[in-house]
Parts: sequence; C-alpha cells; structure tokens
Amino acid sequence: MNAIIKKKESLTIVSSGAALGADVTGLDMREELSAEEIECVRDAWVKHLVLRFRDQEGLGVEDLIRFSRSFGGLDRRPVRGTLYGGAQNDLPLEINVISNIMVDGKPIGSLGSGEAEWHADMTYNERPPKGSMLYAVEIPPAGGGTSFANMYLAYESLPADLKSRANELKCVHDASRNSTGELRQGFEAHTDPRKTVGAIHPLVITHPDSHQKCLLLGRRRNAYLVGLPVEESEELLDRLWEHAVQARHSWTQEWKIGDAVLWDNRCTMHRRNAFDPESRRLMYRTQIAG
Ligand code: OGA
Ligand code: MN
Repeated sequence: MNAIIKKKESLTIVSSGAALGADVTGLDMREELSAEEIECVRDAWVKHLVLRFRDQEGLGVEDLIRFSRSFGGLDRRPVRGTLYGGAQNDLPLEINVISNIMVDGKPIGSLGSGEAEWHADMTYNERPPKGSMLYAVEIPPAGGGTSFANMYLAYESLPADLKSRANELKCVHDASRNSTGELRQGFEAHTDPRKTVGAIHPLVITHPDSHQKCLLLGRRRNAYLVGLPVEESEELLDRLWEHAVQARHSWTQEWKIGDAVLWDNRCTMHRRNAFDPESRRLMYRTQIAG
C-alpha cells in the first residue's frame, strides 16, 4: 500500500514580459518559508524589481508582516495626528492602511481615490525605504491600477549627453507634498524649486544589491538640480522625466483581491490610477527600511 504524499507545489518565477515585474507562484504567504525559498524570492526580486504573489486571499496582517520581514527590518507607519481616526489604531504599527474608505467622516487610510503621480517613496529622506509590499483586501470594480517603471532601463537608455550630465548632478527631493499632491503637516506650500526642503541625492545611484546604476528621480514636483539656474534645472528634469516614465519602461498591476506586490523602491518608481470615489479600495502596506 502506497502512502499518498501531498507534494508542495514548487516555487516558480514567471516574468511579466514587460520592462519589469514577475509573478511568483507556488508560494503560500501564510506559511513559514524555507531559507531556500527566501533566497529564491530575493534573487527574483533583484532581477525583476517588482514581484506579484497572487491568490493570497485570507492573508492576516501578521502573515504580511512576517513575510515582509524576510526582506529586511520594517518601518513603522507614519504618525498622522488626528486625521486617521480609529480603524488603523487596531492594527500592528508595521501596517499602514492605503484606502479611500471613510468611517465616521474620517479616512481610515491615505491616498484617497485620486491619481497618485509617478514617485518613489520617501526619497525626501536621507535613507529612503528599500521597498514596500501592498496587499489588496478590497478593490474597486475599475481603475486603481498601480504602474511601476524600471529606473535601470531608464538610465541605460538615456541619450549620451543627458546620461553624462545626470552622472554629475544632484537633486533636491521635495518633502512638502505626498504623491496625490496633498500638503504634509508642518510644511509650507511653495512653487519655487530653490525653496524645496528635503534630502539631496545624486541623480544616478548604484544599487547596493545589483551593483548596477539607476536613475533616482523621486518626484517631479518642486525637484531642483542643485547649483543650476532654475530654467536649466527645469529643462533637464523635464527631459529626464519624459524619458524615464515612457510606457516601454513600465508595467501595470491591475489588482485582484488577494494580490500582494513587493517593489524595490530604489530602482523603480510607481503611480496609481484614479478610481470611482464611491467604490472601495483597501490595501495593507508594509515598508522595508532603507
Ligand atoms: C504607496 C503607493 C499606490 C497604490 O503605497 O506608496 O504609492 O496603488 N500606493 O495604492
Ligand atoms: Mn508610493
């Protein structure tokens, strides 16, 4: 009599076929991963920049935290004063809620239902996060897709003149507004890029894991190339941005409930499409420290 041994589906990486992004199948995020599995996912992350784990419905916040920790220590969610009442307070501090849902007239999370323009997260800090995970709990019937762009490709494919200029310039990254254009608490509104408050980073960085060069643009609004006349800074930044966010450098995640997406924040940018404010979108997010 042969015992029936239930064999675990093996872990497989399937590229999106676009400029970045891959699906990881054969992995249950609720289970403890083996060292081999973690290494395999880490390698795939370096290679594909953005990884998607589908069909993870029913994942608990503790599972999301444990899984995210496989890639580094986690940041705590930002403290947002009194704006975010209730709901989020019951969740572990490593979980940030991204949602348009209102409870008692207050948003339970951030980013609402509008468009979030192209950005990398928190590059206005000296040490921006390494990456993030978003997990879809509720999604709207249409819209709300998240696009990612490959900043290695954006760098490599720059015209020669722009590439050599980029290699010698530094940029100020604006801390005053979030990706939906909302003014952050404690910041003053301004439109003169020379007044921008935020970290200064080289336009071209070498990624610590891949050892490859990539463009670090952060966000367009109020960006300023240190030391240049404003007109010249604006012109160069416009050219760099137009080049970087071309469709051929990007891939869009159209969410399904139970999708989890892990992105590398140092070599990618992302944006989100708007969606019907009457519909609900609820995502749990973790952030891996830089
Ligand atoms: C983020 C972000 C986009 C989205 O969480 O940093 O930009 O699709 N989210 O919710
Ligand atoms: Mn973001």
